[in-house]
Amino acid sequence: SKDATVAIIIIGASGDLARRKTFPSIFSLYERGFLPNSLVIYGYGRSDIQRESLHSKILPFINTHQTNESSQKVKDFLKLCYYHRGSGYNDNDAFCKMRESIERNVQNPKSIHYLFYMAIPPNLFATATQSIRTMMKSIPSNQYRCLFEKPFGSDSDSYNQLSTSLSKLLTEQQIYRIDHYLGKDVIRFIPSFRFDNTLISNIWSNENVSRVIISVKETIGLEGRGGYFDEYGIIRDVIQNHLIQIMCLIAMEKPKTNSSCKAEAIRDAKCQVLRDTKKPTLKDCIVGQYDGYLCEELVRTESRTPTYCLIKLTIDNERWQGVPFYLIAGKCLNEKLAEVDIQLKEPRLSFNTQEGLHDDEYYSMKMKIQPEKYVSLGNRNAGTTLKLFEKTRDDAYANLIHDALQGNSSSFVRDDELKLSWKLLTPLLHELESIRPLSYKQGSEGPREVQSYLHNNHNKDMTPKL
Ligand code: BG6
Repeated sequence: SKDATVAIIIIGASGDLARRKTFPSIFSLYERGFLPNSLVIYGYGRSDIQRESLHSKILPFINTHQTNESSQKVKDFLKLCYYHRGSGYNDNDAFCKMRESIERNVQNPKSIHYLFYMAIPPNLFATATQSIRTMMKSIPSNQYRCLFEKPFGSDSDSYNQLSTSLSKLLTEQQIYRIDHYLGKDVIRFIPSFRFDNTLISNIWSNENVSRVIISVKETIGLEGRGGYFDEYGIIRDVIQNHLIQIMCLIAMEKPKTNSSCKAEAIRDAKCQVLRDTKKPTLKDCIVGQYDGYLCEELVRTESRTPTYCLIKLTIDNERWQGVPFYLIAGKCLNEKLAEVDIQLKEPRLSFNTQEGLHDDEYYSMKMKIQPEKYVSLGNRNAGTTLKLFEKTRDDAYANLIHDALQGNSSSFVRDDELKLSWKLLTPLLHELESIRPLSYKQGSEGPREVQSYLHNNHNKDMTPKL
């Protein structure tokens, strides 16, 4: 509530993620009046810098409107931002001193709620969390929460290890795992769109849907992250998390609304989708690599890391039997686009042409996630567009930090969801190690084979509606 006393602590405050994403999102919440009145924001880091230099590092990222009113807000915000240095993330002493300093800087030191934001690489998660435990000794576990950013492991084994080490230090209720796609407006809207809207909920199954294509296409390439990307590849980078999460929201059964905890009900429903999904194998997958990738900085010679991937998934349950879900993601493509394309079965009698619909004239419902946000219904020739959210700014991180402050974990990824999604993809990831990706031109639609694959599958997927 507005009257609570809150301390937000950013671990790894002098890093890139903190500067570009975390501080600006907290500022955006502050600017819109969404944060409690009694608030301090602490950055913890190893850099030997003063409070003022933290301010000048974050200033360019928060001072974006430059009106008088907003620059006053910027000044007020910076007054709440402190920097605390430690020799490392295992420096228990520095963490404990930070708590003393926080207590000195708030009016109500006895009732502070702490939100830790881990803006550090995952190999430091356990170490930093251990220090937080020491710092929070004597504080009840429901008074502090920790936000973590991916990557959460790179396969089943590595995730299970991470999970075990964190679960020794924090309860599941204290852990908020970020998938920033779950902070995006259109994605947050999926459950309500599907379940509060009987027009939609009644058509949402294999009776009417022939196939679903979920795409996250990017024009950008590695952006200086060659070392990370070459180790992970497109499947671990975006498919295992963002696209799988979208698929779960699109495919899940209605969460048990009588359940006392909505967040757990939603996450239970998503887990069930993952349990019902068949493990994909090489024949369900096309991987690509853009040309020029091997010359990128920090990329291994002869690297087989995919920068593009299509995976066909089948969900073996009553609702989705026979409906393939294609997940497509790629870097260095011709467009930046995230969307869900729900393609409808061919009607028995069509008003469109005398012979019925032609190939790729099928009716579909598209949910555009970005850069535009809307839902449209139609085919290539004609359609209607329902514009949504035109005026709102899409600030995924701010939405998520706000949820975490409220204790609402429905848009965060639960431990078992991660275990299930890694279990689903790990065999394929290991099989792919020996596969050379198809090459595609930078700025193109991706490997040519994908278009013909989707086209050839089209007729098979498009069984007429009975
Ligand atoms: C991140 C990936 O999780 O998502 C990046 O690590 C990718 O490689 C990014 O570029 C895409 O997010 P958005 O919000 O720009 O679509």
